[in-house]
Amino acid sequence: MTGSLHLVSLPLAPERFFASDNFSGAHPRYLAAIERANAGHVMAYGGDAITKSAVSMFQELCQADVDVLFTFNGTGSNIVALGSLLRSAESVICSEWAHINVDETGAPEHILGIKLHDVISPDAKVKPEHIVAASSALGNVHHVQPGVVSITQATELGTVYSIDEIRVICDTAHSFGMRVHLDGARISNATAALGGDAKTFRAMTFDAGVDAVSFGGTKNAMFGAEAVLLRRGVASDRSGFIRKQNTQLPSKMRYMAAQFVEALTDDLWLETARHANQMASRLYKALEDLTSLQMTPPAVNSLYPILPPDVKEQLQAWNFFWDWDLSRSQVRWMTSWDTSPADVDAFAAGVRAALLGR
Ligand SMILES: Cc1ncc(COP(=O)(O)O)c(C=O)c1O
Repeated sequence: MTGSLHLVSLPLAPERFFASDNFSGAHPRYLAAIERANAGHVMAYGGDAITKSAVSMFQELCQADVDVLFTFNGTGSNIVALGSLLRSAESVICSEWAHINVDETGAPEHILGIKLHDVISPDAKVKPEHIVAASSALGNVHHVQPGVVSITQATELGTVYSIDEIRVICDTAHSFGMRVHLDGARISNATAALGGDAKTFRAMTFDAGVDAVSFGGTKNAMFGAEAVLLRRGVASDRSGFIRKQNTQLPSKMRYMAAQFVEALTDDLWLETARHANQMASRLYKALEDLTSLQMTPPAVNSLYPILPPDVKEQLQAWNFFWDWDLSRSQVRWMTSWDTSPADVDAFAAGVRAALLGR
């Protein structure tokens, strides 16, 4: 830590962090599901009964003709999804904030050998006009061809596309022959926010016209379990090969699949996401009178306040969280499936003491 730290004394720090939903552990029910799956020898690489159940549960959830591929992590899911949608000499349109653009160490460019066409978007959403503008390159042999639009739901700034917005994005992309990928690292939080049931999930994905979904599990209480959902007939029928070539084919797939069976059996995936969202709302309400924070009510499980740099440093040393836009001294506070009301209240008390005591 640098700069002059204020010596305001802060209350006891919360038990848990507000840095990321990746900081939390796994839900005991997922660990129990792994334990139950841990019996005897079964076929590897997805040939086992648990994986078959998880695949059909996802197909039931999507009510669409989809292939389901389990993967190790979210970056890998995005690679498999994009690789399955792209054709040669094509690029991907995404927002400047997209995880594929800023937080994957150039993996899409490095692994897929493609160009990302990142568009300026203060709310991290791709707009139909971005697609229309990019389409001017179509047919010009000197220009990379925009082939896929990638949107993130919920976005990297905690905003959420409405179902209508996604439908218009898909219609616009499809009208130019482009396909649509949805990075759903936090699709469960978005589903909980927009209606909280399977119908909402469908409405914002395959019913709206999305062609591939990276379905996140790890951030929502699972342990290293992610899935890629691909619309058949649009995505490559060689997606299984693409997954293997990109090192995302798990040999002991049953352990991942078992977690998704557990998640989809009685909507545990929505229960944990709803809880995380509620904890972010509680934090917002506890601090909304502090207008210098410039917070807007959270749509999902994250808040993006502005803090004076000295206060920020003191709070980060007290209970770590990530910087988001350093140029504005903006940070991200994120809640998780296991964030407790007591954590929120303790965190809010610390923020209040640090801000008002200066
Ligand atoms: C929006 C989004 N997409 C994808 C990922 C990829 O996650 P992983 O770290 O599992 O590769 C993340 C992780 O933070 C994310 O926030």
